[in-house]
Amino acid sequence: ALVSMRQLLDHAAEYGYGVPAFNVNNLEQVRAIMEAADATDSPVILQASAGARKYAGAPFLRHLILAAVEEFPHIPVVMHQDHGTSPAVCQRSIQLGFSSVMMDGSLGEDGKTPTDYDYNVDVTRRTVEMAHACGVSVEGELGCLGSLETGMAGEEDGIGAEGKLDHDQLLTDPEEAADFVKATNVDALAIAIGTSHGAYKFTRPPTGDTLSIQRIKEIHERIPDTHLVMHGSSSVPQEWLAVINEFGGAIPETYGVPVAEIVEGIKHGVRKVNIDTDLRLASTGAVRRFLAENPAEFDPRKYLKLTTQAMKDVCIARYEAFGTAGNA
Ligand code: G3H
Ligand code: 13P
Ligand code: NA
Ligand code: ZN
Repeated sequence: ALVSMRQLLDHAAEYGYGVPAFNVNNLEQVRAIMEAADATDSPVILQASAGARKYAGAPFLRHLILAAVEEFPHIPVVMHQDHGTSPAVCQRSIQLGFSSVMMDGSLGEDGKTPTDYDYNVDVTRRTVEMAHACGVSVEGELGCLGSLETGMAGEEDGIGAEGKLDHDQLLTDPEEAADFVKATNVDALAIAIGTSHGAYKFTRPPTGDTLSIQRIKEIHERIPDTHLVMHGSSSVPQEWLAVINEFGGAIPETYGVPVAEIVEGIKHGVRKVNIDTDLRLASTGAVRRFLAENPAEFDPRKYLKLTTQAMKDVCIARYEAFGTAGNA
């Protein structure tokens, strides 16, 4: 059944687990996530970005998610709009039937320009008023995603600050977070702790200096009742990088957010963990390997079946590690 984010995250907080929120653009991703959730008895958050809407079209995305709900009626599913850039964008998603929206007021309507605090409060508060009147949940964001080493946001198209960020924008301030939640009444708060979108988060495995789990603890201590969200939380599996590069790819050395660090965050209030890149890497690795090893094959179902299986394995691993399994 379709549920609101609030319902799902309240349950996660009560029982101390986290929920991966996977980005979806196509049938294979939706099927991989649902089959993994079914296999592990996990609740599901499916999220669609502006890039996903551009790729698949909003009606296709909506019906893919509704199809998931129809085929797996026993699994709670949140239909979430990722990184909305204005109240108007969020309003359109609410009209389409999304049960949750993100109003990312940390960046302007261009998805690139960092905003000031008052702007963020204003657009987020207005979105919450509108969404709550419709029973829809809202995720806000305070602070900007980006590397603590370089001050740069990820290279993903779409959402990410342009130019170099200051150190204080890269780590959400606990006191300001408390004020923001009070002023906006958001259901969940995305925070900046040194992660960024995409595959190129860290040039070496992260340490406390480049990934601040400590900051999560400080924020959670200040606002223990707020559901925290980690964006840019792909782990960038080294084994999939190796497969991609073995079969014709050229991805330079890079590191993601270790699953163990996310698990530590979940012990301190993180309830929603955004993952897109890991499914992209698994899916590309599976296709590259299959086509290299089976050069005469041309039926897309042959390799898409393998991408679905590869993504499903990643999803199962996350559902189990985050404690989501068994909670559907
Ligand atoms: O927010 C970032 C997600 O990875 C979505 O990326 O805009 O390329 O779909 P996208
Ligand atoms: P990754 O790029 O680490 O998968 O993060 C996705 C995300 O935060 C979507 O909002
Ligand atoms: Na989101
Ligand atoms: Zn994000």
